[in-house]
Amino acid sequence: MGYVQHVAQVVRVRVPAKVNLALCVGAADDTGYHELGTVFQALSLWDELTVEPAPPGVFKVAFRGEGAAFLPTDDTNLAIRAAKMLAEHCHVADAGCIMLVRKRIPVAGGMAGGSADAAAVLVACNHLWGSPAPASDLRDLAAQLGADVPFLLTGGTAIGTGRGDIIDPVESRGTYHWTLALSHTGLSTPAVFREFDRVAEPTAPRIPQELLDALAAGDVPAVGRNLVNHLADAAIRLQPTLGSTLQIGLDAGALGGVVSGSGPTCAFLSDSAESAALVAEALGVFSGVRAVRSALGPVTGAALWEDHAAR
Ligand code: C5P
Repeated sequence: MGYVQHVAQVVRVRVPAKVNLALCVGAADDTGYHELGTVFQALSLWDELTVEPAPPGVFKVAFRGEGAAFLPTDDTNLAIRAAKMLAEHCHVADAGCIMLVRKRIPVAGGMAGGSADAAAVLVACNHLWGSPAPASDLRDLAAQLGADVPFLLTGGTAIGTGRGDIIDPVESRGTYHWTLALSHTGLSTPAVFREFDRVAEPTAPRIPQELLDALAAGDVPAVGRNLVNHLADAAIRLQPTLGSTLQIGLDAGALGGVVSGSGPTCAFLSDSAESAALVAEALGVFSGVRAVRSALGPVTGAALWEDHAAR
């Protein structure tokens, strides 16, 4: 007596978080999106995605770990939208998949967690379905899914223009030690942009040349001095504790501190693991901070991590 075991292929992809070293915000266009000049860096704070085949038309996602309980798992989830969009684009017959995301990137934290998962799904499902989409198609689909998704495919350190979705690599040397202060509650990205619109008078979004020069030279203190985020004031108005968080990190010796993206995560730069540990210690005892994470940058974007057959 024996039985036939269906051995399904399982695809695993690892995808990093991002921090914006510069986030310069211009005016909104007719669709409400703002023109950005941004410098992204991918950090070693990874979400891990496992995808396996499912019957035709079945698309499911589940989350475990950091903030999992707050995430919708219906068709509005960006991971499901990414899988369906790729299947449709590539005319994959009988497409279906079950996705499990082990989250470490904070939810609604300004580190592109949802966009990262969408980038991971594009890479994983493309592999699962026999690589029907060339890299250029994945980039186009990524931009349709969200402004941050194309960068999460690429990783490294890169300039983003347009909505932040036009990605050009930037010359960058050195390793950057980051300490991330996670907040007790998230911030909605549209709400932060709305608050920015209410108060700020946007100009052309110019990335500081000093920052680009510092990155090219691998001058970490100069990178720290030139971190900039035009959304920071809006994020601090919505979560005033962030002002104290930034001050505590800087007082503990960080070379620079910045609200990450639309916040509320604050990112602090150090030039060694030892200095970063001091910053983490100071932030860890502040009641305004829920948790502290350490990460290195830059790292690569969404990539197959390990392929293996289900047991
Ligand atoms: O593209 P994504 O869905 O990640 O953007 C989330 C929100 O952030 C948008 O709905 C918009 O309110 C805001 N946004 C913006 N300008 C950009 C990128 C995002 O106003 N360039």
